[in-house]
Amino acid sequence: MDPNLFRPSCVFMNMLIISILSHVPMFLCQDNEQYAACGNLFHCANISSIGYPFSGQDRPAYCGHSGFRLSCIGNTPLITIQSEEYRVLEIDNGTQTLKVAREDLLNNLCPTILYNTTIDFNLFSYASNLQNLTLNYTCTGTQAEHQFDCTGNDGTTTINYFSTADTNLSVVTCDDSVLVPISQTSAQVLASPKASVNDLRAVIGRGFQLEWSAKDLSCEQCIQSGGRCGSANSSSTSFACYCTDRPYELTCNKTQIGTGNVELYTNSDSTKAVNKVDLFTFVRGSSHCPAIVVC
Ligand SMILES: *[C@@H]1O[C@H](CO)[C@@H](O)[C@H](O)[C@H]1NC(C)=O
Ligand SMILES: *[C@@H]1O[C@H](CO)[C@@H](O)[C@H](O)[C@H]1NC(C)=O
Ligand SMILES: *[C@@H]1O[C@H](CO)[C@@H](O)[C@H](O)[C@H]1NC(C)=O
Ligand SMILES: *[C@@H]1O[C@H](CO)[C@@H](O)[C@H](O)[C@H]1NC(C)=O
Ligand SMILES: *[C@@H]1O[C@H](CO)[C@@H](O)[C@H](O)[C@H]1NC(C)=O
Ligand SMILES: *[C@@H]1O[C@H](CO)[C@@H](O)[C@H](O)[C@H]1NC(C)=O
Ligand SMILES: *[C@@H]1O[C@H](CO)[C@@H](O)[C@H](O)[C@H]1NC(C)=O
Ligand SMILES: *[C@@H]1O[C@H](CO)[C@@H](O)[C@H](O)[C@H]1NC(C)=O
Repeated sequence: MDPNLFRPSCVFMNMLIISILSHVPMFLCQDNEQYAACGNLFHCANISSIGYPFSGQDRPAYCGHSGFRLSCIGNTPLITIQSEEYRVLEIDNGTQTLKVAREDLLNNLCPTILYNTTIDFNLFSYASNLQNLTLNYTCTGTQAEHQFDCTGNDGTTTINYFSTADTNLSVVTCDDSVLVPISQTSAQVLASPKASVNDLRAVIGRGFQLEWSAKDLSCEQCIQSGGRCGSANSSSTSFACYCTDRPYELTCNKTQIGTGNVELYTNSDSTKAVNKVDLFTFVRGSSHCPAIVVC
Protein backbone atom coordinates (compact mmCIF):
# COMPACT_ATOMS: atom_id res chain seq x y z
CA MET A 1 0.00 0.00 0.00
CA ASP A 2 1.15 3.51 -0.75
CA PRO A 3 2.52 4.94 2.54
CA ASN A 4 1.64 8.45 1.28
CA LEU A 5 -2.01 7.60 1.80
CA PHE A 6 -1.55 8.02 5.54
CA ARG A 7 0.21 11.36 5.48
CA PRO A 8 -2.04 13.79 7.37
CA SER A 9 -2.49 16.11 4.37
CA CYS A 10 -3.46 13.19 2.17
CA VAL A 11 -5.90 11.79 4.70
CA PHE A 12 -7.48 15.22 4.83
CA MET A 13 -7.71 15.42 1.02
CA ASN A 14 -9.29 11.98 0.81
CA MET A 15 -11.80 12.81 3.51
CA LEU A 16 -12.66 15.99 1.65
CA ILE A 17 -13.16 14.14 -1.63
CA ILE A 18 -15.21 11.41 -0.01
CA SER A 19 -17.37 13.95 1.79
CA ILE A 20 -18.01 15.77 -1.50
CA LEU A 21 -18.84 12.54 -3.28
CA SER A 22 -21.16 11.41 -0.54
CA HIS A 23 -23.34 14.37 -1.41
CA VAL A 24 -23.69 13.07 -4.93
CA PRO A 25 -26.93 11.11 -4.97
CA MET A 26 -26.38 7.41 -5.43
CA PHE A 27 -28.52 7.20 -8.60
CA LEU A 28 -25.97 9.24 -10.50
CA CYS A 29 -23.56 6.35 -10.03
CA GLN A 30 -25.97 3.87 -11.59
CA ASP A 31 -26.92 3.35 -15.18
CA ASN A 32 -29.63 5.64 -16.38
CA GLU A 33 -33.04 4.33 -15.33
CA GLN A 34 -34.42 4.21 -18.89
CA TYR A 35 -31.28 2.52 -20.19
CA ALA A 36 -31.67 -0.17 -17.53
CA ALA A 37 -35.41 -0.62 -18.09
CA CYS A 38 -35.05 -0.92 -21.87
CA GLY A 39 -32.64 -3.83 -21.45
CA ASN A 40 -35.58 -5.91 -20.21
CA LEU A 41 -37.16 -8.21 -22.73
CA PHE A 42 -40.64 -9.40 -21.81
CA HIS A 43 -42.84 -12.32 -22.59
CA CYS A 44 -46.48 -12.14 -23.43
CA ALA A 45 -48.47 -15.38 -23.13
CA ASN A 46 -46.57 -17.91 -25.30
CA ILE A 47 -44.32 -15.37 -27.00
CA SER A 48 -40.94 -14.87 -25.35
CA SER A 49 -38.01 -12.43 -25.50
CA ILE A 50 -39.89 -9.49 -26.96
CA GLY A 51 -37.91 -6.26 -27.26
CA TYR A 52 -37.82 -3.05 -29.29
CA PRO A 53 -40.01 -1.72 -30.87
CA PHE A 54 -42.54 -3.56 -28.68
CA SER A 55 -43.43 -2.76 -25.10
CA GLY A 56 -45.75 -4.36 -22.60
CA GLN A 57 -45.76 -6.10 -19.21
CA ASP A 58 -42.71 -4.78 -17.30
CA ARG A 59 -41.16 -3.18 -20.38
CA PRO A 60 -42.17 0.50 -20.22
CA ALA A 61 -43.89 2.23 -23.12
CA TYR A 62 -40.85 4.49 -23.68
CA CYS A 63 -38.79 1.38 -24.60
CA GLY A 64 -40.92 0.88 -27.69
CA HIS A 65 -43.23 2.76 -30.00
CA SER A 66 -46.85 3.52 -29.33
CA GLY A 67 -48.09 1.41 -32.25
CA PHE A 68 -46.29 -1.64 -30.86
CA ARG A 69 -47.71 -1.86 -27.37
CA LEU A 70 -48.87 -5.35 -26.46
CA SER A 71 -51.46 -6.08 -23.84
CA CYS A 72 -51.08 -9.51 -22.36
CA ILE A 73 -54.37 -10.57 -20.90
CA GLY A 74 -54.24 -14.13 -19.65
CA ASN A 75 -53.05 -16.24 -22.54
CA THR A 76 -53.88 -13.65 -25.14
CA PRO A 77 -51.29 -11.24 -26.52
CA LEU A 78 -53.15 -8.41 -28.21
CA ILE A 79 -52.02 -5.52 -30.39
CA THR A 80 -54.25 -2.64 -31.44
CA ILE A 81 -53.96 -1.64 -35.09
CA GLN A 82 -56.12 1.22 -36.35
CA SER A 83 -58.27 0.94 -33.21
CA GLU A 84 -59.04 -2.76 -33.74
CA GLU A 85 -57.65 -5.66 -31.74
CA TYR A 86 -55.53 -8.39 -33.25
CA ARG A 87 -54.18 -11.45 -31.52
CA VAL A 88 -50.42 -11.76 -31.89
CA LEU A 89 -49.44 -15.31 -32.81
CA GLU A 90 -45.75 -14.87 -33.52
CA ILE A 91 -43.06 -12.20 -33.46
CA ASP A 92 -39.88 -12.75 -35.46
CA ASN A 93 -37.30 -10.13 -34.61
CA GLY A 94 -34.86 -11.44 -37.23
CA THR A 95 -37.17 -10.84 -40.18
CA GLN A 96 -39.10 -8.00 -38.47
CA THR A 97 -42.39 -9.76 -39.01
CA LEU A 98 -45.31 -10.60 -36.80
CA LYS A 99 -48.25 -12.86 -37.37
CA VAL A 100 -51.64 -11.64 -36.21
CA ALA A 101 -55.23 -12.84 -36.37
CA ARG A 102 -58.51 -10.95 -36.17
CA GLU A 103 -59.52 -11.16 -32.52
CA ASP A 104 -63.19 -10.52 -33.29
CA LEU A 105 -63.49 -13.29 -35.88
CA LEU A 106 -61.42 -15.77 -33.86
CA ASN A 107 -64.18 -15.92 -31.32
CA ASN A 108 -67.14 -15.50 -33.58
CA LEU A 109 -67.62 -15.52 -37.35
CA CYS A 110 -70.67 -13.32 -36.85
CA PRO A 111 -69.52 -10.20 -35.00
CA THR A 112 -72.10 -7.46 -34.52
CA ILE A 113 -69.70 -4.76 -35.69
CA LEU A 114 -68.16 -5.45 -39.09
CA TYR A 115 -64.87 -3.89 -40.14
CA ASN A 116 -62.32 -4.48 -42.86
CA THR A 117 -58.76 -5.27 -41.89
CA THR A 118 -56.76 -2.05 -42.17
CA ILE A 119 -53.20 -1.44 -41.08
CA ASP A 120 -51.16 1.66 -40.37
CA PHE A 121 -48.87 1.77 -43.39
CA ASN A 122 -46.45 4.02 -41.48
CA LEU A 123 -45.65 1.08 -39.23
CA PHE A 124 -46.64 -2.08 -41.08
CA SER A 125 -46.89 -3.59 -44.53
CA TYR A 126 -48.58 -6.79 -45.61
CA ALA A 127 -46.39 -9.78 -46.35
CA SER A 128 -46.11 -10.27 -50.09
CA ASN A 129 -47.96 -13.57 -50.42
CA LEU A 130 -51.31 -12.53 -48.94
CA GLN A 131 -54.72 -12.86 -50.58
CA ASN A 132 -58.10 -11.48 -49.63
CA LEU A 133 -60.62 -13.62 -47.88
CA THR A 134 -64.04 -12.01 -48.28
CA LEU A 135 -66.82 -12.66 -45.82
CA ASN A 136 -70.09 -11.59 -47.43
CA TYR A 137 -72.88 -11.11 -44.91
CA THR A 138 -76.67 -11.06 -45.14
CA CYS A 139 -77.06 -12.61 -48.58
CA THR A 140 -80.04 -13.59 -50.69
CA GLY A 141 -80.01 -16.34 -53.25
CA THR A 142 -78.48 -19.64 -52.31
CA GLN A 143 -75.62 -21.76 -53.32
CA ALA A 144 -74.56 -24.83 -51.41
CA GLU A 145 -70.88 -24.14 -51.10
CA HIS A 146 -68.92 -21.75 -48.87
CA GLN A 147 -71.92 -20.88 -46.78
CA PHE A 148 -71.99 -20.05 -43.08
CA ASP A 149 -74.98 -19.03 -41.04
CA CYS A 150 -75.25 -16.44 -38.32
CA THR A 151 -77.98 -16.26 -35.71
CA GLY A 152 -78.66 -12.80 -34.32
CA ASN A 153 -79.69 -11.97 -30.76
CA ASP A 154 -83.30 -11.86 -31.91
CA GLY A 155 -83.04 -15.45 -33.17
CA THR A 156 -83.09 -14.60 -36.86
CA THR A 157 -80.64 -16.45 -39.05
CA THR A 158 -78.76 -14.86 -41.93
CA ILE A 159 -77.03 -16.63 -44.78
CA ASN A 160 -73.45 -15.61 -45.44
CA TYR A 161 -70.63 -16.73 -47.71
CA PHE A 162 -66.87 -16.77 -47.65
CA SER A 163 -64.88 -16.44 -50.82
CA THR A 164 -61.41 -15.96 -52.19
CA ALA A 165 -60.28 -14.79 -55.61
CA ASP A 166 -61.01 -18.26 -56.97
CA THR A 167 -64.56 -18.54 -55.63
CA ASN A 168 -67.55 -17.72 -57.81
CA LEU A 169 -70.41 -16.22 -55.82
CA SER A 170 -72.28 -14.86 -58.82
CA VAL A 171 -75.67 -16.35 -57.91
CA VAL A 172 -75.99 -14.47 -54.61
CA THR A 173 -76.10 -10.84 -53.59
CA CYS A 174 -75.07 -9.65 -50.15
CA ASP A 175 -75.44 -6.52 -48.04
CA ASP A 176 -72.18 -6.35 -46.11
CA SER A 177 -68.67 -7.61 -46.46
CA VAL A 178 -65.43 -7.91 -44.53
CA LEU A 179 -61.98 -8.37 -46.01
CA VAL A 180 -59.38 -10.44 -44.14
CA PRO A 181 -55.87 -11.12 -45.44
CA ILE A 182 -54.91 -14.79 -45.54
CA SER A 183 -51.91 -16.70 -46.83
CA GLN A 184 -51.75 -18.28 -50.27
CA THR A 185 -51.88 -21.73 -48.66
CA SER A 186 -54.97 -20.81 -46.69
CA ALA A 187 -56.59 -19.39 -49.82
CA GLN A 188 -56.05 -22.71 -51.58
CA VAL A 189 -57.76 -24.54 -48.71
CA LEU A 190 -60.78 -22.25 -48.90
CA ALA A 191 -61.02 -22.32 -52.69
CA SER A 192 -61.99 -25.99 -52.59
CA PRO A 193 -65.75 -26.50 -53.06
CA LYS A 194 -65.56 -28.81 -50.04
CA ALA A 195 -64.16 -26.10 -47.75
CA SER A 196 -66.16 -26.13 -44.51
CA VAL A 197 -66.96 -23.60 -41.79
CA ASN A 198 -64.33 -25.36 -39.67
CA ASP A 199 -61.78 -24.77 -42.42
CA LEU A 200 -62.79 -21.12 -42.40
CA ARG A 201 -62.29 -20.91 -38.62
CA ALA A 202 -58.92 -22.63 -38.89
CA VAL A 203 -57.76 -20.26 -41.63
CA ILE A 204 -58.75 -17.20 -39.61
CA GLY A 205 -56.94 -18.69 -36.62
CA ARG A 206 -53.76 -19.10 -38.65
CA GLY A 207 -53.63 -15.34 -39.11
CA PHE A 208 -51.56 -13.34 -41.53
CA GLN A 209 -48.09 -11.91 -41.59
CA LEU A 210 -47.12 -8.26 -41.33
CA GLU A 211 -43.73 -6.68 -41.72
CA TRP A 212 -42.89 -3.82 -39.41
CA SER A 213 -40.59 -0.86 -39.51
CA ALA A 214 -39.83 1.48 -36.64
CA LYS A 215 -36.96 3.92 -36.96
CA ASP A 216 -34.77 0.97 -37.90
CA LEU A 217 -31.76 2.97 -39.08
CA SER A 218 -31.83 5.23 -36.03
CA CYS A 219 -32.04 2.20 -33.76
CA GLU A 220 -29.12 0.48 -35.46
CA GLN A 221 -26.97 3.58 -34.97
CA CYS A 222 -28.10 3.93 -31.36
CA ILE A 223 -27.20 0.31 -30.57
CA GLN A 224 -23.83 0.68 -32.27
CA SER A 225 -23.07 3.62 -30.03
CA GLY A 226 -23.87 1.51 -26.96
CA GLY A 227 -27.43 2.69 -26.44
CA ARG A 228 -30.89 1.13 -26.29
CA CYS A 229 -33.73 2.26 -28.50
CA GLY A 230 -37.04 3.71 -27.44
CA SER A 231 -39.25 6.69 -28.01
CA ALA A 232 -39.39 10.10 -26.43
CA ASN A 233 -43.14 10.45 -26.53
CA SER A 234 -46.22 8.71 -27.82
CA SER A 235 -45.97 10.20 -31.30
CA SER A 236 -45.22 7.37 -33.72
CA THR A 237 -42.32 9.28 -35.26
CA SER A 238 -40.43 10.03 -32.07
CA PHE A 239 -37.19 8.29 -31.20
CA ALA A 240 -34.89 8.26 -28.20
CA CYS A 241 -31.55 6.58 -27.65
CA TYR A 242 -31.12 5.63 -24.00
CA CYS A 243 -27.51 5.53 -22.93
CA THR A 244 -25.80 4.62 -19.66
CA ASP A 245 -25.66 8.26 -18.62
CA ARG A 246 -28.85 9.77 -20.04
CA PRO A 247 -31.24 9.75 -23.02
CA TYR A 248 -30.04 11.23 -26.31
CA GLU A 249 -31.88 12.09 -29.49
CA LEU A 250 -30.01 9.70 -31.76
CA THR A 251 -26.79 8.15 -30.46
CA CYS A 252 -24.77 8.02 -27.25
CA ASN A 253 -22.62 10.91 -28.42
CA LYS A 254 -21.38 12.95 -25.48
CA THR A 255 -20.86 16.00 -27.66
CA GLN A 256 -24.50 16.18 -28.66
CA ILE A 257 -26.19 19.03 -26.89
CA GLY A 258 -29.63 19.87 -25.67
CA THR A 259 -31.00 16.37 -25.63
CA GLY A 260 -31.11 15.47 -21.97
CA ASN A 261 -34.61 16.73 -21.28
CA VAL A 262 -36.47 13.97 -23.03
CA GLU A 263 -40.12 14.02 -22.07
CA LEU A 264 -40.76 10.50 -20.93
CA TYR A 265 -44.22 9.16 -21.16
CA THR A 266 -45.70 6.48 -19.02
CA ASN A 267 -47.86 3.54 -19.97
CA SER A 268 -50.96 5.61 -19.41
CA ASP A 269 -49.51 8.22 -21.78
CA SER A 270 -49.36 10.97 -19.20
CA THR A 271 -46.13 12.83 -19.67
CA LYS A 272 -43.66 13.87 -17.05
CA ALA A 273 -40.26 15.39 -17.43
CA VAL A 274 -37.80 13.10 -15.72
CA ASN A 275 -34.43 14.18 -16.98
CA LYS A 276 -33.02 17.65 -16.97
CA VAL A 277 -29.99 18.70 -18.93
CA ASP A 278 -28.46 20.65 -16.05
CA LEU A 279 -28.56 17.62 -13.80
CA PHE A 280 -26.60 15.59 -16.28
CA THR A 281 -24.07 18.23 -17.15
CA PHE A 282 -22.67 17.47 -13.70
CA VAL A 283 -21.65 13.95 -14.64
CA ARG A 284 -21.15 14.56 -18.35
CA GLY A 285 -18.11 12.73 -19.64
CA SER A 286 -18.19 10.10 -16.94
CA SER A 287 -21.15 7.82 -17.31
CA HIS A 288 -20.41 5.98 -14.09
CA CYS A 289 -19.14 6.98 -10.66
CA PRO A 290 -16.00 9.05 -10.88
CA ALA A 291 -13.03 7.11 -9.50
CA ILE A 292 -11.87 8.26 -6.10
CA VAL A 293 -8.62 10.09 -6.72
CA VAL A 294 -5.97 10.17 -4.03
CA CYS A 295 -3.26 12.74 -3.84
C1 LIG B 1 -33.50 -7.97 -32.59
O1 LIG B 1 -32.60 -7.84 -33.67
C2 LIG B 1 -31.62 -6.84 -33.48
C3 LIG B 1 -30.84 -6.72 -34.75
O2 LIG B 1 -30.56 -7.96 -35.30
C4 LIG B 1 -30.76 -7.20 -32.26
O3 LIG B 1 -29.80 -6.19 -32.05
C5 LIG B 1 -31.67 -7.30 -31.04
O4 LIG B 1 -30.91 -7.70 -29.91
C6 LIG B 1 -32.79 -8.29 -31.28
N1 LIG B 1 -33.73 -8.19 -30.19
C7 LIG B 1 -34.25 -9.26 -29.59
C8 LIG B 1 -35.26 -8.99 -28.55
O5 LIG B 1 -33.94 -10.40 -29.88
C1 LIG C 1 -49.05 -19.30 -29.40
O1 LIG C 1 -50.29 -19.98 -29.35
C2 LIG C 1 -51.11 -19.81 -30.50
C3 LIG C 1 -52.42 -20.54 -30.30
O2 LIG C 1 -52.68 -20.77 -28.98
C4 LIG C 1 -50.40 -20.37 -31.73
O3 LIG C 1 -51.19 -20.18 -32.89
C5 LIG C 1 -49.07 -19.64 -31.90
O4 LIG C 1 -48.36 -20.19 -32.98
C6 LIG C 1 -48.25 -19.78 -30.61
N1 LIG C 1 -47.08 -18.95 -30.77
C7 LIG C 1 -45.86 -19.37 -30.44
C8 LIG C 1 -44.76 -18.40 -30.68
O5 LIG C 1 -45.65 -20.48 -29.98
C1 LIG D 1 -64.82 -3.61 -46.87
O1 LIG D 1 -64.25 -3.28 -48.13
C2 LIG D 1 -65.14 -3.58 -49.22
C3 LIG D 1 -64.37 -3.36 -50.50
O2 LIG D 1 -63.57 -2.25 -50.44
C4 LIG D 1 -66.35 -2.67 -49.10
O3 LIG D 1 -67.25 -2.92 -50.15
C5 LIG D 1 -67.04 -2.95 -47.77
O4 LIG D 1 -68.14 -2.09 -47.57
C6 LIG D 1 -66.07 -2.79 -46.62
N1 LIG D 1 -66.70 -3.30 -45.39
C7 LIG D 1 -66.82 -2.58 -44.28
C8 LIG D 1 -67.47 -3.24 -43.11
O5 LIG D 1 -66.42 -1.43 -44.20
C1 LIG E 1 -57.61 -6.98 -51.09
O1 LIG E 1 -58.65 -6.00 -51.18
C2 LIG E 1 -58.21 -4.67 -51.04
C3 LIG E 1 -59.44 -3.78 -51.04
O2 LIG E 1 -60.26 -4.06 -52.11
C4 LIG E 1 -57.23 -4.34 -52.16
O3 LIG E 1 -56.74 -3.04 -52.02
C5 LIG E 1 -56.06 -5.32 -52.11
O4 LIG E 1 -55.21 -5.10 -53.20
C6 LIG E 1 -56.57 -6.74 -52.16
N1 LIG E 1 -55.45 -7.65 -51.94
C7 LIG E 1 -55.15 -8.63 -52.77
C8 LIG E 1 -53.97 -9.47 -52.41
O5 LIG E 1 -55.80 -8.84 -53.75
C1 LIG F 1 -69.78 -18.05 -62.09
O1 LIG F 1 -70.96 -18.87 -62.08
C2 LIG F 1 -71.96 -18.41 -63.01
C3 LIG F 1 -73.21 -19.25 -62.80
O2 LIG F 1 -72.90 -20.55 -62.45
C4 LIG F 1 -71.41 -18.51 -64.43
O3 LIG F 1 -72.38 -18.05 -65.33
C5 LIG F 1 -70.16 -17.62 -64.52
O4 LIG F 1 -69.57 -17.75 -65.79
C6 LIG F 1 -69.13 -18.02 -63.47
N1 LIG F 1 -68.05 -17.05 -63.49
C7 LIG F 1 -66.77 -17.41 -63.38
C8 LIG F 1 -65.76 -16.31 -63.39
O5 LIG F 1 -66.42 -18.59 -63.29
C1 LIG G 1 -68.71 -9.74 -51.44
O1 LIG G 1 -67.92 -8.64 -50.96
C2 LIG G 1 -67.02 -8.14 -51.92
C3 LIG G 1 -66.22 -7.05 -51.25
O2 LIG G 1 -67.03 -6.04 -50.79
C4 LIG G 1 -67.77 -7.62 -53.13
O3 LIG G 1 -66.85 -7.15 -54.08
C5 LIG G 1 -68.61 -8.73 -53.71
O4 LIG G 1 -69.39 -8.23 -54.77
C6 LIG G 1 -69.51 -9.31 -52.64
N1 LIG G 1 -70.19 -10.48 -53.21
C7 LIG G 1 -71.50 -10.57 -53.22
C8 LIG G 1 -72.03 -11.82 -53.81
O5 LIG G 1 -72.23 -9.71 -52.78
C1 LIG H 1 -42.63 14.31 -29.57
O1 LIG H 1 -41.26 14.72 -29.58
C2 LIG H 1 -40.86 15.41 -30.76
C3 LIG H 1 -39.39 15.70 -30.67
O2 LIG H 1 -38.71 14.67 -30.05
C4 LIG H 1 -41.68 16.68 -30.90
O3 LIG H 1 -41.32 17.32 -32.11
C5 LIG H 1 -43.15 16.35 -30.91
O4 LIG H 1 -43.92 17.53 -30.93
C6 LIG H 1 -43.52 15.53 -29.68
N1 LIG H 1 -44.90 15.11 -29.81
C7 LIG H 1 -45.74 15.07 -28.78
C8 LIG H 1 -47.10 14.55 -29.06
O5 LIG H 1 -45.40 15.40 -27.66
C1 LIG I 1 -21.11 13.62 -32.17
O1 LIG I 1 -21.92 14.77 -32.40
C2 LIG I 1 -21.23 15.89 -32.93
C3 LIG I 1 -22.19 17.06 -32.97
O2 LIG I 1 -23.47 16.68 -33.39
C4 LIG I 1 -20.69 15.49 -34.31
O3 LIG I 1 -19.96 16.58 -34.86
C5 LIG I 1 -19.75 14.29 -34.16
O4 LIG I 1 -19.32 13.87 -35.44
C6 LIG I 1 -20.48 13.15 -33.47
N1 LIG I 1 -19.53 12.07 -33.20
C7 LIG I 1 -19.82 10.78 -33.43
C8 LIG I 1 -18.77 9.80 -33.05
O5 LIG I 1 -20.90 10.43 -33.89
